[in-house]
Amino acid sequence: MRPGILILAGIVLLGTAWVAIHLFARDGAAVARGRVLYDTNCAACHGRNLEGQPDWQSAGSDGRLPAPPHDATGHTWHHSDADLTAYIALGGAEALAQMGVTFDSAMPGFGDVLSTQEIADILAYIKSHWPERERQVQAERSASDGR
Ligand code: HEC
Repeated sequence: MRPGILILAGIVLLGTAWVAIHLFARDGAAVARGRVLYDTNCAACHGRNLEGQPDWQSAGSDGRLPAPPHDATGHTWHHSDADLTAYIALGGAEALAQMGVTFDSAMPGFGDVLSTQEIADILAYIKSHWPERERQVQAERSASDGR
């Protein structure tokens, strides 16, 4: 092989490794920030391990649904990033009202407490709990959401 090709291959390899490490470090930082924000703002209702409240699919005596899990057993991964971000910022009742749905939700809005970046970090942390298949389905939904 000519040395030129070897040098080129080396550069490509180093470049790929650099990008991979860079992306990994960036995602890792978002997940770490998201974990702290999740524990402070969300864990009380959605569970420290994202397990949700017991019997989350049945309404309580007040007629409101309990907090669902955010791991793969829940339905968070069925929704696009844009929908999740709006839901978290506005709260359940307001987010659904904007879609024309009246719903008595116990999910508070965090728009005054969390920035868009902080909500994205929390979503990165939540996603880090999903198996590959759920991550992929949700990523495709976000990509085709067009918002
Ligand atoms: C006071 C309790 C409470 C807190 C705190 C809370 N939630 Fe919720 N959340 C709920 C309840 C109850 C529901 C189910 C009712 C509904 O969907 O509106 C819900 C629903 C949701 C949903 C829609 C369902 C789903 O899985 O897609 C998302 C997303 C969500 N919460 C994210 C969060 C995040 C992120 C935080 C922290 C920033 C948080 N919640 C904090 C009670 C809470």
